[in-house]
Amino acid sequence: MTRVLSCIKPTGEGHLGNHLGALRHWVRLQHERESFHGIVDLHSLTVPVEPGLVGERTMALAAMLFAVGLDPDVATVFVQSHVPEHPRLGWVMECTTSYGELSRMTQFKDRASRSQTEFVSGGLFTYPALMAADILLYDTDEVPVGDDQRQHVEITRDAAERFNSRYGETLVVPTATTPPAGARIMDLQDPTSKMSKSTRTDAGSIGLLDDAAAIDRKFRRAITDSLRQVAYDPERQSGVSNLLEILAAVTDRNPADVASEYHAYGPLKADAGAAVIEMLAPIQARYLELMKDPSELTRLLGIGSARAHEVAATTLDRVHSAIGLLPA
Ligand code: TYM
Repeated sequence: MTRVLSCIKPTGEGHLGNHLGALRHWVRLQHERESFHGIVDLHSLTVPVEPGLVGERTMALAAMLFAVGLDPDVATVFVQSHVPEHPRLGWVMECTTSYGELSRMTQFKDRASRSQTEFVSGGLFTYPALMAADILLYDTDEVPVGDDQRQHVEITRDAAERFNSRYGETLVVPTATTPPAGARIMDLQDPTSKMSKSTRTDAGSIGLLDDAAAIDRKFRRAITDSLRQVAYDPERQSGVSNLLEILAAVTDRNPADVASEYHAYGPLKADAGAAVIEMLAPIQARYLELMKDPSELTRLLGIGSARAHEVAATTLDRVHSAIGLLPA
C-alpha cells in the first residue's frame, strides 16, 4: 500500500492554512493509504520556547488532529521526540545535505533576514535535514503538504538520491503532493504573505479555535482592493483571490468557478466566513471533548509512537548497515 507521511509543528492550535493545505487531506488519505503523522516537537525548538509550553501544545495539537478526523485506529499519530530515530537519522541527513543546499532554503533565508536582533539558531539552518529524516524513516511514497513545504521535500529527495548513490539503494525517494485548492492560504490582512503561526497578525489569521464572531469579523475586514471586480487573479488581486481560494477549498470547488458567482466583495467575504464557521464548528466541539480526557490522548499517542518507532528502527538499522557503522 502506498505510504503517506506528513507532520506539523506544535507552535499553536493550528490555523486555517494548516487545515486547508494539509490536515483535511491527511484525513481523506488515511483510508486510501497507510498514513503516518508526526507532531514534530523537536522542530519547534528552532526558536526559543518557554519551559513546559511545547508539551502543552503537543497535547492540544494531538486533540486537534483527532478532532479534524484522523482516526487513531487507522492512521499512526506520533510525537517526534518519542521516536529517538528522528534525531539519529537527522544527523546522517545533515551529513548528506550540503551547506549550499541548506543556505538556499527560502524559509531559512526569510527567517534569518528578518531577525537582525533575534537569535538565529543552528537548528533553523539544519532543520530541513531533520525533516528529511522524518520523511525517509518511514519509506514514505507521498508527502501531502502545503506549497511552502515543497522545497523541503525537494531537498529530501536530493538527499535520498545522494545517500543511495553513496551507499547503495537504501532509501525510498518521496514525492510531495499538494491540494488543488488551498495549498497556499494567505494572511487576510497581508495577502502577499502566507497565513502562518510565527508571523501571523491576529486579524489576518484564522485560528482553528477562533469563535464564530471572530471568524466573521476577520473575513469582513479582510483586505481586498479598489478594482471592484471579482476575478481569480492572485497577481493583481491577491486579497480577493485568497478569499476565492478559501471558499473554493472549503466547498471543494475551483476558485475561478466560485468567482463567476460574485459581483461584489461584501457577499464573497460573508460567504467565505460562513463556510469556514460551518466547517470548523464540529471540529471545535470534538476538540473540546477530547481535551477533557488527557490520559486518553496520552494513551493514543503512546500507541502511535510505539508503531512509529517499530518502522523507524528498521529503517535506521538499514541505513547504519548500508553505511557500514560497526554494529552495537
Ligand atoms: P507547519 O507546521 O508550518 O505546517 C503544517 C502543514 O500546514 C501547511 N501550511 C499551509 N498550507 C497552506 N497555506 C498556508 N498558509 C499554510 N501554512 C502551513 C504546511 O505546508 C504543512 O503541510 N516543516 C513542516 C513540518 C514538518 C514536516 C515534516 C512536514 C516537519 N517534518 C515531514 C512534512 C513531512 C512545517 O513547518 O509545517
